[in-house]
Amino acid sequence: MRFSKPTKLVGVDIGAQAIKVCQVDQTSGGITLEHYGQANLPPSAIQEGIFKDHQMIAGSLAGLLKHLGITTKEAAFAISGYSVITKKITLPLLTEKELAQTIHMEAEQHIPFDVREVNLDFQILGPLKEEPDTMAVLLVAGKKDILEIYQQILHLAGLEVKIADVAAFALQNAYEANYPLDGKPIAAMDLGSELITVNVFNRTGPLFIRDLPLGGRQITEQIQNQAHLSFKEAEEAKLKWDPGAQSLETVGPAVLQTLTSWVAEIKRAFDFLAASDPDSRPAKVVLSGGSALIPGLAAFFSRELKLPVELFNPFARIKVNPDLFDREDLGRVAPQAVTALGLALRRRGDR
Ligand SMILES: Nc1ncnc2c1ncn2[C@@H]1O[C@H](COP(=O)(O)OP(=O)(O)OP(=O)(O)O)[C@@H](O)[C@H]1O
Ligand SMILES: [Mg+2]
Repeated sequence: MRFSKPTKLVGVDIGAQAIKVCQVDQTSGGITLEHYGQANLPPSAIQEGIFKDHQMIAGSLAGLLKHLGITTKEAAFAISGYSVITKKITLPLLTEKELAQTIHMEAEQHIPFDVREVNLDFQILGPLKEEPDTMAVLLVAGKKDILEIYQQILHLAGLEVKIADVAAFALQNAYEANYPLDGKPIAAMDLGSELITVNVFNRTGPLFIRDLPLGGRQITEQIQNQAHLSFKEAEEAKLKWDPGAQSLETVGPAVLQTLTSWVAEIKRAFDFLAASDPDSRPAKVVLSGGSALIPGLAAFFSRELKLPVELFNPFARIKVNPDLFDREDLGRVAPQAVTALGLALRRRGDR
């Protein structure tokens, strides 16, 4: 039983290209968007998942919070990529409490890091159908040094960290708040600037999670090298690209080549998944992240993966006050808002 109201959280998604922040109000009547905003970072701020300039990232986050008038101090953030490992393991039936006591020992056998260097968490997914005296457990290991860097940055920006999450979980959380989940697995894919986060899940929880070191920055860099442009110019040419109109001629081939390599990796991941569990083949793909906006991408993915593909609308079921937000502006950034929204939905006191 809980007597105090869960506290609001600012969801902070620090991406390689842009920081996003989101805040919602959750009542029994539904969820209302209170704040959303994003601020681009220079490409030198985060490279290959490494935060190169903590002060700059914190300054940019603080500026964004101020600009949006966010006064809530408690925050949730997410780690992704090399800093986190999620793994589904099978264990004999144990209670939450029992597992909490033995999780370190279990983790030692399942994660490639030194357990002293990680923070461990787990989620009991439930007993296995085939072997009723065993259960599936989702093991999560986040690297302590990276978690500390996030803490420092949020602290420098005036925030107090309440929840450290995993980007793939935030994706699923945002999906569940907006779409019904039937028995069929859904593949949520966030196509960012340096990472493609994949989470295939169903009602019982995640079936498969992977962060692929791929993203829109690859396309921009290819254009930059081939057309001898600065990163900024190449990025502009990419954003202006319209396959039906006059565009810089290096963009089309760079996009096609990159997307082809992405679907090859995704197919490989899905094949791996289907080999371990044929029932887990996704029935649908939902795409988020800025790179999901590449013209024709959804159709290309659908053709190549032979699956229905749609764009993730994070505000499908979330109330948006038209006096506070311009629908069109919000619609344009909506795919980039998904992770931050998933984080904002994790009220403190919910878990
Ligand atoms: N309209 C568009 N067309 C093509 N690409 C776009 C468009 N809008 C954004 N992008 C690309 O999306 C990427 C940024 O998306 P997003 O904000 O989701 O990434 P990020 O969260 O900062 O990165 P990551 O999650 O990989 O750390 C950039 O590579 C950008 O060029
Ligand atoms: Mg991102």
